Amino acid sequence: MNKEKSLIPFYTHGITMAPMAGVTDSAFRRICIKLGATCLVTEMVTAAGLSRKSVKTKKMLRYHPDEQPLGVQLFGAKADDFARASDLVTPLGFKFIDINAGCPVKRVLRSGSGSSLLGDIPRLLEIIRVTKQNTDLPVTVKIRLGLTRENPVPDNIGTLVSEAGACCIAVHGRFRPDFFAGEVNKEGIKRIAELSPVPVIANGDSTSVEAALSLRDDTESDGLLIGRGAWGNPWIFRGIAGGKASPEPGELHDTIMEQLSMMMEYIPSPQVFHIFRGHLVQYFRGFHGAAAFRKRAVGTVSLEDVDIVAREADIAMHTPAEDF
Ligand SMILES: Cc1cc2nc3c(=O)[nH]c(=O)nc-3n(C[C@H](O)[C@H](O)[C@H](O)COP(=O)(O)O)c2cc1C
Repeated sequence: MNKEKSLIPFYTHGITMAPMAGVTDSAFRRICIKLGATCLVTEMVTAAGLSRKSVKTKKMLRYHPDEQPLGVQLFGAKADDFARASDLVTPLGFKFIDINAGCPVKRVLRSGSGSSLLGDIPRLLEIIRVTKQNTDLPVTVKIRLGLTRENPVPDNIGTLVSEAGACCIAVHGRFRPDFFAGEVNKEGIKRIAELSPVPVIANGDSTSVEAALSLRDDTESDGLLIGRGAWGNPWIFRGIAGGKASPEPGELHDTIMEQLSMMMEYIPSPQVFHIFRGHLVQYFRGFHGAAAFRKRAVGTVSLEDVDIVAREADIAMHTPAEDF
């Protein structure tokens, strides 16, 4: 289908770090953009919290000038909340507002947000319309293939969201009950892409450069969103851009330390180490002895601890297995 020229090509036709609550904070986003992601999105932020002007929620909107282009993702159930939230985020420098209609988590679902919107398409469309009315930023939407397997979203969902005011649709090729398991359904994404008048971004299981490129090509989508495949391996973005998809010697250590020191700018010690351990274990995968490094990672409580384990892991990663 002939699609209109995009106002946000870095997202619609780019390689974006997918929003991941608890993962894609400011520090990790800065690492991803440095390593070649063309666009970033915040973790999901509650529209109701923003609408109530919650200080805690507003803190989630903070970002560093290096994190551009950056979109903000809102989740919620009520059009009124989206109206107030989009009004509030519009002047803050984000490049677009993304609406979360894919989160499968029970707590989110119970509140009528995330993928539950896929079970009530008129409400999803109303939320898009109201958001669009309250911002001059482009509005995008992120969906799954359906709330249940028996009730998939219509194949013309691209037309529906476009008529409501969205300029792009990201599709995670799974149904809500799949959570993140099982093979991604490329056919489902492709059916939506074929009929969509607005760009479609494919999402799901881009765990390597090859998997990412074939996801985009096989689904005939315009852009890519990469989630878990970049957690602990942000070099995947560089790989897709034609460079080395894994760290050079020394780069694992330096990246880990850079991310931690950026995190320390906004999270106090010792809490920062507790949070950072979740990232550290992800960096220690796929090389000889990685399991032992992960074990050590969960015991790190200081900058020095992280420095030592990261330095040793970097050496181990670049030592051929037969040399052990
Ligand atoms: C820990 C975690 C947190 C996530 N948080 C969000 C979120 O805040 N907003 C969202 O739209 N999707 C969220 N997702 C879903 C991802 O953006 C993505 O759609 C999903 O992981 C599939 O892509 P992948 O196979 O490349 O990881 C999250 C996924 C994980 C694993």
